[in-house]
Amino acid sequence: MHRVFSTRRLPEATVAYLKNHVELDIWDGTKRPTFEQLVERAQTADGIITSGISIDDALLSKLPNLKCVSTSSVGYDHFDTAAMRRHGVIGTHTPGVLDETVADLTFTLMLAAARRVVEMDAIVRQGKWHGKPENFYFGVDVHHRTLGIIGMGRIGEAVARRAALGFGMDVLYHNRTRKPEVEQRFGLEYTSFEDLLRRADFVVLLTPLTEETRGLMNQAAFDLMKSSAIFVNVSRGLTVDEDALYNALKNGSIRAAGLDVFREEPTPVSNPLLQLDNVVVLPHIGSATQTTRDDMAMLAAKNVVAVLEGRASDAKVISELRDLVKEC
Ligand code: DGY
Repeated sequence: MHRVFSTRRLPEATVAYLKNHVELDIWDGTKRPTFEQLVERAQTADGIITSGISIDDALLSKLPNLKCVSTSSVGYDHFDTAAMRRHGVIGTHTPGVLDETVADLTFTLMLAAARRVVEMDAIVRQGKWHGKPENFYFGVDVHHRTLGIIGMGRIGEAVARRAALGFGMDVLYHNRTRKPEVEQRFGLEYTSFEDLLRRADFVVLLTPLTEETRGLMNQAAFDLMKSSAIFVNVSRGLTVDEDALYNALKNGSIRAAGLDVFREEPTPVSNPLLQLDNVVVLPHIGSATQTTRDDMAMLAAKNVVAVLEGRASDAKVISELRDLVKEC
């Protein structure tokens, strides 16, 4: 029987599924396993289920049996895909099952930043509701404004649908490849990165973290945005230059931001962004609902089992390593 080590606890149904197919070992520490602990526990493993743990050459060199690493996330910037290729290890992820949940969270941040929900909540709790001029409480509208989506994958589509059909927004997007069918379905306008930044009232970043997108939102990008615009990041923290974002928010070159992700996670309380009233912050909870996390865990389990049983074409193999499947 194949052996699978999970670096994280799994829902009951996923454990039951895995036990029917593989010999399962689950890390039950409160913190993530260290490199040494991972090497020790996964020593004979054919497959690993994880999320966020770095899968690199140093680790792969110590795990000669390994055939598959299955991440319970759609993002896989913690995979060194070149090293995985060299070691012949297939990587899988969980696209599809989290799209609507992450799109909900994207809108949560847009609405919260626009209507200053966190600031207003604090005012009520601190007994400061009275005695202010009426316009003290004003925010800005989301409906019928212009949304710019950077990164038009499945989550981008789910955000665009909410924006166009629910909120009557004009939606611009920028993506490596054009999506004419999606454009037509929701009336989207494809445009350049720079044009999107200049025209959008809300700029939503949904790109994966790659060498191309690292630091994409830098000072030059924030300088292009309207001073009334709101920036929302639900991708990865490293797609944004946080110092440039801080300056843009502090000096009023953009209005506000909603952030689910940070350069370093958990972000330290000393992060200057946390001092600003015009920022809404969340602890990377884009996909964090019970149903969605259960679905992601089950898909991660099915992926690793499919690869180990020689049915890799049934698994959600990451695009960079799909050609390895043909060689299996
Ligand atoms: C993912 O799946 O990559 C998300 O960031 C997790 O919330």
